[in-house]
Amino acid sequence: MNLYTVIREEIASRPERAIPFSRYMELALYHPVYGYYMSDKPKVGKSGDFYTSASVHPVFGETLADAAAEMWRAGGLLPAPVLVEIGGGTGALCRHILDRLQMAEPDLYRSLTVMLIEASPYHRRLQEEALQAHDVPKLWFASLAEAAEHQRIDGVILSNEWLDAFPVHVVERSGAGWREIWVTEKGDGFAEQRGEVTPRLAEYLQALKRDVPNGMRLEVNLELEQAATDVSRLLNRGYVVTIDYGDTEEELYHPSRKNGTLMCYYRHQAHEDPFAHPGEEDITAHVNFSAWKRYGERQGLREVAYMRQDKFLMNCGLLQKAVAHNDRDPFTSIAMKRNRAILQLIDPAGLGGRFRVMVQAKEVDAKAGLRFLENGFPS
Ligand SMILES: C[S@@+](CC[C@H](N)C(=O)[O-])C[C@H]1O[C@@H](n2cnc3c(N)ncnc32)[C@H](O)[C@@H]1O
Repeated sequence: MNLYTVIREEIASRPERAIPFSRYMELALYHPVYGYYMSDKPKVGKSGDFYTSASVHPVFGETLADAAAEMWRAGGLLPAPVLVEIGGGTGALCRHILDRLQMAEPDLYRSLTVMLIEASPYHRRLQEEALQAHDVPKLWFASLAEAAEHQRIDGVILSNEWLDAFPVHVVERSGAGWREIWVTEKGDGFAEQRGEVTPRLAEYLQALKRDVPNGMRLEVNLELEQAATDVSRLLNRGYVVTIDYGDTEEELYHPSRKNGTLMCYYRHQAHEDPFAHPGEEDITAHVNFSAWKRYGERQGLREVAYMRQDKFLMNCGLLQKAVAHNDRDPFTSIAMKRNRAILQLIDPAGLGGRFRVMVQAKEVDAKAGLRFLENGFPS
């Protein structure tokens, strides 16, 4: 048995002889045995398929640690702060945050509890190893729904590149209305075909209050609303910080995005064919931040900030983390490496310009003392 056989058998079992693209993506990424995120293969960083801000350099986590400390203080979330990370991957970001807090905020660090919500057993193992050196209470959950069922926290819920990893439906607008993209067998592999829109998706599209030009493709994450509901169930009081590539609906539905935003990452090559390496590569879509905000508002999460990553990190003091040095050799210099990483994190053509940060608040009215709200840099 392998992923090809699993998907082919499911296709064969359906009267349409096809499955919606979202189901294909779900199997390719999360099939319990053969899904990309379920396998024991490195995914993030040099030996994997893609880099994330967290894998670039610890300075990303250091900056987020400072921002989290401000939020715990501003929100009155001390003396027992909680940090939740969702989809933490290798655990690098959480480790960098804890390293920084241990050094810069020892009192806060000593009273901290960390909760990690991670779907991948492989990543949960890596996280346990990454955080071994930190003697703070740590809890793991395999799903947000399970965490929300058992916990209610006062604290900060953080994610970096979590929502872009959700399976999405793909639809295309034509003169005759919407068509959904389904996946069927073709030769030894798979191919897409246009078909009927599945009922829940049809409801979503009916409620869409936008003109979408003919020929345009959109991805729709129908699980986003439940995710916002579960985040809010988990959060009694505090902040939600969501970092990801994505845009508002206005930008996502712009004709210049005619082909949608679906992307695949295989050994550091970005491409647009989701059937090329099922189970061996990441498949992603941009996050619809308008929908994330809307669903959050329905659950009592109030947006307090939405901005590009470069602006957010600079407002949080990233540039002050650069170090002066007299080093000459760019290959061995730790200081030069750190300074280069800072530039990479705010590169307008890369991570800085493509990533967005949304901060939502629940039952805290504090805006004072949050440096990321300072308007020092253009958005
Ligand atoms: C693109 S990786 C990002 C990893 C890490 N945050 C980073 O920045 O390097 C996405 C992570 O989210 C996890 N994930 C995806 N869907 C999830 C879900 N519904 N609940 C919890 N974790 C999820 C994946 O297993 C993976 O670890």
